[in-house]
Amino acid sequence: MYLGIDIGTSGTKTILIDARGKILAEAAASYPLYHPKPLWSEQDPDDWWQATVKTVRQVVEMARLKPTDVRAIGLSGQMHGSVFLNQRHQVIRRAILWNDQRTAAECEEMESRAGGRRQLIRMVANPALTGFTAPKILWLRNHEPRHFERVAKILLPKDEIRRRLTGDLATEVSDASGMLLLDVAKRRWSKPLLSKLELDIDLFATCYESEDVTGTLTRQTAAELGLSANCKVVGGAGDCAAGALGNGIVRRGLLSTSIGSSGVLFVHSDAPEVDPLGRLHTFCHAVRGKWHMMGVTLAAGASLQWFRDQLCQEMGEGSVAKVPNPKNMGRIKQGSAKSLYDRLTAEAAAVPVGSEGLFFLPYLAGERTPHADPDARGAWVGLTLAHGRGHLVRAILEGVTYALRDSLEIIRACGVPVRQIRASGGGSKSPFWRQLQADVLGKKVYDMMADEGPAYGVALLAAVGDGTFKNIEEACNACVRTAGETKPSPQAQRYYASAFPVYQGLYQSLKDDFKKIARLR
Ligand code: XUL
Repeated sequence: MYLGIDIGTSGTKTILIDARGKILAEAAASYPLYHPKPLWSEQDPDDWWQATVKTVRQVVEMARLKPTDVRAIGLSGQMHGSVFLNQRHQVIRRAILWNDQRTAAECEEMESRAGGRRQLIRMVANPALTGFTAPKILWLRNHEPRHFERVAKILLPKDEIRRRLTGDLATEVSDASGMLLLDVAKRRWSKPLLSKLELDIDLFATCYESEDVTGTLTRQTAAELGLSANCKVVGGAGDCAAGALGNGIVRRGLLSTSIGSSGVLFVHSDAPEVDPLGRLHTFCHAVRGKWHMMGVTLAAGASLQWFRDQLCQEMGEGSVAKVPNPKNMGRIKQGSAKSLYDRLTAEAAAVPVGSEGLFFLPYLAGERTPHADPDARGAWVGLTLAHGRGHLVRAILEGVTYALRDSLEIIRACGVPVRQIRASGGGSKSPFWRQLQADVLGKKVYDMMADEGPAYGVALLAAVGDGTFKNIEEACNACVRTAGETKPSPQAQRYYASAFPVYQGLYQSLKDDFKKIARLR
């Protein structure tokens, strides 16, 4: 059996699969997200670790595992987060996350040290974006020099969990790509860029391919988790590539959407293709010798979560619903509640297509694709006295889906073929939101049998690392299946096609005001 552990932004999820990819058990635990200032975003690596221990132990207990039953573990996690460690490998400060926007000045510094934006893209396949890791390192050097002086190692979130599991300082190509320090075409650290940034290569972990075994559990951790010290840990993948593996995105023509905290559009590519305008990311895929392109909207599920947490708490969480889901049969799962999300989505579904002229810009955390604008802000535009809560929610869901379409348009403009769209992530579990994706993207959308996202993808990588499958393509072919399909409704598709340019125009009209708002003191 194999474990997949995903260190997400809202929580950690651990799943157990057998050697044929069947999910046997799963557990999840959440933790806080800190926003010490507007548009800052941090988490405590100790919280990730506690959640890892808790969920692994739960799965071990639920499935009544003997220590030797689990042969390998795959790790996935939110990308780009910076874990700063001192000489004794203790955490120096909270990790700065992918959706943090404090590093605009450091992005400029990076491009200028690299000899310009085009030079930077030539070295690491991507421009400097505020969410990526390297600008965070420069920020620490510029703003917290006393912390920076003590930094001996810089790890990504899942790799910090690997260190605690195995004692190894290791990463892998898909997640390392998002540090903006990897020569993505050559799949190794970019020494020329590191030297221009005056960063020592020893600050970074050894970089593996995603399916490679990077170590085994320490005796102490094995005992704590109820596993064996022979249990291997494979490289794993950043959550986007891991989620894509879980959706079988391992050949050209397949695209996945994923709606978690962020919203991601992900396409496989056989070569390191680069968007010359730098709007899409070009990263190594978790498939040996392959790459991918993706667009990321920063507050997808996070927009709805913000609405729920800030404006709907008086509604309560609601009653526990035990709806038998054929996809989950035979699987041991923690009790799930009919959530506030389901009730809010039901209110949205009762509102007409287009929210009666109400639009929402989902830029609550600034925006990455397509605007790369840390100053962008969220907004509802078009409010009238006739609008109610259902309209506000529907407009949020529509706005986030328009943001996905922004990425789709760029992918198409780059000449990347899109033959099939597979929807995943928490947001795609809602049939309403899947329909919205089909309508707004104007294409049939498939959902997946195993809808466990990144944790499933890295559990498959663990099976590959253990030799159960020859490679990840073989594992995906054997284990990943689409479940159902959602076709666009012609009427809704027509409406959204005409409203999408209006949505796009709103950012153009507001962007200067967003800058003025950001500068108000
Ligand atoms: C990807 C990105 C996000 C995080 C969130 O570039 O920033 O999708 O990985 O999990």
